[in-house]
Amino acid sequence: MEKTGGKQSNRLFLMSMRHFRKTWVRFLLLSGVSLCLVLFAPTLHKRLVGIKDCQTLPSALSSATNISRRPPTHCSCKGALLKDFFKNDNDTVRRRQEEYRKHKARTSSSLDLLLVAPANSPLQYPIQGFTVVPLQRTLIPGLGVYAPHRDIYKVSLVASRGLLSVEEPGTDGLVEGDGGNQLNITALSASGLNALLGRVHYTSTVYRLRTGDLVHFLFEKHNVTFPVDIWQPSVPIIFDLGEDINSQVTITTKTFLRYFELNTMISSIRQYYKTMKIIIADDSFDPIKVNGSDIEQYFMPPGQGWFAGRTLAVSQVTTKYFLWVDDDFYFTEKTQIEKLVEVMESMPELDMVSAGVGRSGFSYRMTYEEGQEDEGGCLLRFRGPYKETVPGFPQCSLSNVVINFFLARTDSVRKVLFDPRLKRAAHSQFFVDAVGKLLIASCNHITVDHQSKRPGNEQYHSFRKQSENHQNYLLYFFKNHFSCINLKAD
Ligand SMILES: *[C@@H]1O[C@H](CO)[C@@H](O)[C@H](O)[C@H]1NC(C)=O
Ligand SMILES: *[C@@H]1O[C@H](CO)[C@@H](O)[C@H](O)[C@H]1NC(C)=O
Ligand SMILES: *[C@@H]1O[C@H](CO)[C@@H](O)[C@H](O)[C@H]1NC(C)=O
Ligand SMILES: *[C@@H]1O[C@H](CO)[C@@H](O)[C@H](O)[C@H]1NC(C)=O
Ligand SMILES: *[C@@H]1O[C@H](CO)[C@@H](O)[C@H](O)[C@H]1NC(C)=O
Repeated sequence: MEKTGGKQSNRLFLMSMRHFRKTWVRFLLLSGVSLCLVLFAPTLHKRLVGIKDCQTLPSALSSATNISRRPPTHCSCKGALLKDFFKNDNDTVRRRQEEYRKHKARTSSSLDLLLVAPANSPLQYPIQGFTVVPLQRTLIPGLGVYAPHRDIYKVSLVASRGLLSVEEPGTDGLVEGDGGNQLNITALSASGLNALLGRVHYTSTVYRLRTGDLVHFLFEKHNVTFPVDIWQPSVPIIFDLGEDINSQVTITTKTFLRYFELNTMISSIRQYYKTMKIIIADDSFDPIKVNGSDIEQYFMPPGQGWFAGRTLAVSQVTTKYFLWVDDDFYFTEKTQIEKLVEVMESMPELDMVSAGVGRSGFSYRMTYEEGQEDEGGCLLRFRGPYKETVPGFPQCSLSNVVINFFLARTDSVRKVLFDPRLKRAAHSQFFVDAVGKLLIASCNHITVDHQSKRPGNEQYHSFRKQSENHQNYLLYFFKNHFSCINLKAD
């Protein structure tokens, strides 16, 4: 600051003297069109005000950009009111609030704000897409001031999570605060000012993976705000599809006390896919080694459950896709895995496609609202898929919940996983966890058969029926932060 003070005003004075003549001539030329409109043609001025920025805007219009948070709104659903269920469990409620606050801090960004660009602004700035890598100096594109002629132009830029600097600050005008978080630029011509603005760089001072900054850009009474995405690019994890279906897909299943069904399914698979790898997670009480080649059987502690088994199986997949099957399915000539791969490959945003099981194939949509912070969100499930289909595949509709027969991207499902706390009959939970994370479609041009039910496997059926309502409610209330959930809203 010290070294700038007096010297700068001297320089500015000399600059203004040098430019005085040029400026005066330009003033004479322009004044007829611009400034005098205010003085001599007030009605015309009103009409032209949007174009000419000819002074005296109503103060509401020229005030700062309006920034406001998306207001959290209360949500409700008919059905299980989880918050009533847990209302006397004060410790749980308190811990839930605390963890949710941390979750918000992890997942929100200073860019989650509504920004409204003010009317009649002569300022030009990037409104979207200015992305910087943390700690890396990057040119701010598109900065400029397009206003009628003035004798002197002064703008300020103010950042809060980064530093601003100008390349070659010594030419075209005066730069104060170079390398700090507030930059003042003064110039005697619009072209000088814009030349300097064209060389302003932003360097974030924070290392975060996904965050942002809001930079204020000020000129006379104008104050606008533009976003800076601070974004650490991530390293891609991509799979080699290889030459044939066996290098593209792994079949995964989980078995428990059903070797007869499992063996039947494996021999049906082998009729069509002789060497495709099959991964089996097995939590039976008395595990038996499954016979056959290209089979990986993982023995788990007995009774670990449905979701633990799925997660274990998926963790061992090395192909781009895996096909989830239940251990009592039966492959037929209509079980063409290639066709499911074709759907997935045609739309890279897709994470999962399901097909039919026998004559049934269900699919649901879900709506989710975040709700108020201390109360929690609301989840509703509706019968049927969305109207939108996968381009080129009218048999495949976008959906949120699908049947237990699906082809999925291995890397996508690994990001959600099947929560091992759910042991039995918890099909929907995975899809609840996947809302907003996985893009899912359900197709009906491919099917697998269901083996007919064998009577007499009492041990298996008694396990399957065990209810875990309290545990499920706790997960919905705490883990998913729901205030209510309704899985039967039709
Ligand atoms: C510019 O607007 C922002 C956001 O409304 C505000 O925080 C800031 O104080 C304003 N700056 C000036 C100098 O008016
Ligand atoms: C910004 O907009 C919100 C919502 O429209 C309004 O409530 C608030 O008063 C506005 N703030 C300013 C400073 O204009
Ligand atoms: C739990 O909180 C409620 C209200 O917040 C209060 O009425 C109740 O006494 C508390 N219960 C216990 C066991 O602290
Ligand atoms: C920039 O100008 C503002 C007022 O216009 C002043 O408060 C601030 O200290 C100046 N910053 C620098 C770095 O000179
Ligand atoms: C594998 O073969 C052995 C020996 O024939 C047999 O005892 C066992 O039951 C078979 N495994 C399964 C899962 O059927």
